[in-house]
Amino acid sequence: MKKDIKIGIIGTKFMGKAHTHAFVDAPLFFDLPLRPVLQVACGLDPIATEQFANRYGWKSWDISSEKVIQRDDVDLIDICTPNHLHMPVAIAAAKAGKHILCEKPMANNADDARRMLDAVEEAGVKHMMVFNYRRVPALAFAKKMIEEGKIGRIFHFNAVYFQDWLVDPLFPYTWRHNKQLAGSGAHGDLNAHIIDLARFLVGEFETVCGAEKTFIKERTIAGTDQKKEVTVDDAVSFMAHFQNGALGSFTASRFATGRKNLQRIEIFGSEGSLSFNLERLNELEYYNRNDATGEQGFRTILVTEANHPYLKGWWPTGHIIGWEHTFVHLVSDFVTAIAKDTPIYPNFYDGLKCQFVLDAVASSIEKGRWIQIPEK
Ligand SMILES: NC(=O)c1ccc[n+]([C@@H]2O[C@H](COP(=O)([O-])OP(=O)(O)OC[C@H]3O[C@@H](n4cnc5c(N)ncnc54)[C@H](O)[C@@H]3O)[C@@H](O)[C@H]2O)c1
Repeated sequence: MKKDIKIGIIGTKFMGKAHTHAFVDAPLFFDLPLRPVLQVACGLDPIATEQFANRYGWKSWDISSEKVIQRDDVDLIDICTPNHLHMPVAIAAAKAGKHILCEKPMANNADDARRMLDAVEEAGVKHMMVFNYRRVPALAFAKKMIEEGKIGRIFHFNAVYFQDWLVDPLFPYTWRHNKQLAGSGAHGDLNAHIIDLARFLVGEFETVCGAEKTFIKERTIAGTDQKKEVTVDDAVSFMAHFQNGALGSFTASRFATGRKNLQRIEIFGSEGSLSFNLERLNELEYYNRNDATGEQGFRTILVTEANHPYLKGWWPTGHIIGWEHTFVHLVSDFVTAIAKDTPIYPNFYDGLKCQFVLDAVASSIEKGRWIQIPEK
C-alpha cells in the first residue's frame, strides 16, 4: 500500500479547481510513488469554501491559511491565492516544514521572491513553481529537439500571450487590477509564463527594454456604482537579449480583441525553426533547413506518440489532450520528486529568475532604457 501525501490547498477558485483536478487525475494516469490525498481546502469565503470541499472531495475545509499550514496531517501546501499572498503563505509553510507548490508569478517583486527562496532553502522542503506550460508535451518535445541540435544556434525567440477579457469597459474591478495585490497586470500574469518558457527553451536573459499601456484607467466594483483606479498594466511588450546571443520579443495583453488565450511561440535557428500555438497544443511545427529533398516547408508534428513526453500515461496515439493535463504532469512530477528526494524544476530559484526579468522590464519602462538582468 502506497504512503499518502496529504495536500492543503490555499485558494479554491480558478486554480484551486485546476489543481484539484490534477491531484485526482495524476494517480489515475501516472504511477506515483505516493498517493495524493485531498486533506483540506482553504478559501476566504466560508460558504464557497465548504461547497468547493464537498463538490470536489476535499476531506475538510477552513478559512484560515495559518491553521491549515500548522496542521500535522498536511504534508504539502498548494498556493492558489492572489499574488500578494504567495510570499507570506510560502514562508509560513516552509517554517512549518511543508513542501510547497506555488502559482505564478512567484511574488509581487524580486525581494519577496528571494525571501521565499531563502525560506524554503533554510527549511529544506521541496518547492515547485506552477509554470505549467513547460509540461505541455509539444513544448517538452521542443526542448528535447533544441537540446539535440535540431534547430542549431537560436537567433530569435518571439512570444506573444494574448487574451481579450478586459476589452469590455464594463468588466468589473478585481484583485487583478490592483498593483498591491497583483504586483502587475498582464505582465506578471502572462509574460511570466513566456519568460519562463524562454528560460526553459533558450537560456538566461541578459538585458531587456519594455513598454506598457493601461488602456482603461478605472473600473467599477461589481454590484456598486463605485469606480476604482486600475493600478496595473493592461499590456506590456518588451525586447530582450539572451546571454547566448539570441534576440527576444515578448508581448502580453488582455486587450488582444478576439484572442481568448493565444500563446504563440516562434523560435528561429541556424538549422531549423519551431513554432507553437497553445490553441492547438498537441501540435508542434518544425522546419528543417537541411532537408535536401526540395520539399522544404514547415511540417506539423502531432505530439501524441507514446514516445513523446508524458504521452505514455495517456491515450492511444492521436487521442489528443488539453490544457488541464499540464497540471496533471506537473503534480505527478512534483509528488515523484518529493518521494524520491530528487531535484524538481521549475522551482523557487526559477521563480526568482523569472521575477528578475519581470522587475527589470518594469524598471526599464520607468527609466526609459535597457536594463541588465541581475545574475543572483
Ligand atoms: N498557471 C496558470 O495557468 C494560472 C492561471 C490562472 C491563475 N494563475 C495564478 O493562480 C493564482 C490564483 O489565481 P486564480 O485565477 O485562481 O484566482 P481566483 O480569484 O479565481 O481565486 C483566488 C482564491 O484565493 C482565495 N483567497 C484569497 N485570499 C485568501 C486568504 N487570505 N486566505 C485563503 N484564501 C484566500 C479566494 O477565496 C479564492 O478562492 C494567481 O497567483 C494567478 O496568477 C495561474
